[in-house]
Amino acid sequence: MSDGEILGTARTAKEPEPHEMLRIIFDYAAKIANERRLNHLLMLMADMGREMVVADRCTVWLADWPRSELYSAAAHGVPLLRMPMQAGLAGHCVTTGKAIFIDDAYRNEEFKEVLENGAIAMDRKTGYRTKSLMVIPFRNNDGEITGVYQAINKLTDEEHFSKKDMDYLTLAASYAGKALESALLSHEIEETQKELIFTIGKIGESRSKETGNHVKRVAEYSYILALGLGLPQKEAELLKIASPMHDIGKVAIPDEVLNKPGKLNEAEFDLMKTHAAIGYGLLNKSNREILKAAAIVAHQHHERWNGQGYPQGLKGEDIHIFGRITALADVFDALGSDRVYKKAWPLEPIIALIREERGRHFDPQIVDVFLSELPKLLEIRKQYSDDVL
Ligand code: C2E
Ligand code: SIN
Ligand code: SIN
Ligand code: SIN
Ligand code: FE
Ligand code: FE
Repeated sequence: MSDGEILGTARTAKEPEPHEMLRIIFDYAAKIANERRLNHLLMLMADMGREMVVADRCTVWLADWPRSELYSAAAHGVPLLRMPMQAGLAGHCVTTGKAIFIDDAYRNEEFKEVLENGAIAMDRKTGYRTKSLMVIPFRNNDGEITGVYQAINKLTDEEHFSKKDMDYLTLAASYAGKALESALLSHEIEETQKELIFTIGKIGESRSKETGNHVKRVAEYSYILALGLGLPQKEAELLKIASPMHDIGKVAIPDEVLNKPGKLNEAEFDLMKTHAAIGYGLLNKSNREILKAAAIVAHQHHERWNGQGYPQGLKGEDIHIFGRITALADVFDALGSDRVYKKAWPLEPIIALIREERGRHFDPQIVDVFLSELPKLLEIRKQYSDDVL
């Protein structure tokens, strides 16, 4: 099979005329300027690069220096893809800072080994035929290499990339640079927020001698229940990030009460109950979506469907869906875990209680989803069990 067959008629594509090149740049510049989501931005940059240099494929790799990794948007709507920096042409290019031009991947000697383990190995799986390649580094305003453009298979009669193509891609990267930096920053902030919230959640639990796995499990249970209820993916993810914070208010509960080995008396339980409002007070100052969701969860995770919960005695759908979901996830996990004041229950009575509380403590619909998703929930329970090896 000749590679001409695979690349088909596209091979005869023409280099863009100068006015076409301008249109490509202006079109993408407008889209790129407004794009804050990192993976979408990487896709836009890849699309722009592909059109400018008339390549069949184009990938933008960003360098994560501290972790010695490269990452890239894999495809539209798909999360970021990562690989070690040591591997591949892209890694070679970021570390040396030198552009790489290859006219035929199957005849190249200089990068023979890298190509055989990379592009050629991949071709064998996919039936694609990699011929020409160009990999060029791009830099931020401080001159540091922040990533590489990798273009595959020039589609014109020339069949290989030129110095001019390199200049175009470098230009494309510098156009995107500002948007890229701000997307990287907001991505970084988002990742930091997630970590921070998770860490704070763990602190809240550790004071009450609950394990870090409790918050992890509640997060995963909430996520499964949210999706099972038909909440949009984005809402489910938001809840998964926020639900570990539900007991953060316990940080303000004195040790004698929080870690009392036996049953709490009425005064002690009244004090204990303040953890919901305290958590809300700690979290509701922020306008950040994640913290707002966490504030709702902290406030409402002990409300009950029948209005008999605390602190507000909210009823039914007046309780935010996030509160209703976390309530079930929390009780399911608390019953199955050892506490200073009780031993873990076996599974049967836990399920019996949750059934019994359908329409009382819990939203009936959420109990139904709980029962139908039970295999998945038990999988999580096993995966993040507290058992010490
Ligand atoms: P937690 O241990 O995380 O428990 C969360 C919720 O799971 C409880 O909310 C309750 O709805 C359910 N739950 C946990 N264990 C049992 C149980 O043995 N039987 C039943 N029927 N439900 C259970 P609740 O009751 O509002 O308690 C909130 C928090 O107050 C608990 O969080 C725990 O930190 C503390 N707490 C409650 N009762 C006691 C107690 O008797 N002694 C101590 N030391 N702490 C308690
Ligand atoms: C998004 O596509 O919604 C943003 C994800 C990201 O920043 O990685
Ligand atoms: C990821 O690999 O999903 C995140 C990339 C990053 O940490 O910036
Ligand atoms: C949601 O945030 O998705 C639902 C809000 C609610 O039901 O209270
Ligand atoms: Fe609680
Ligand atoms: Fe809890």
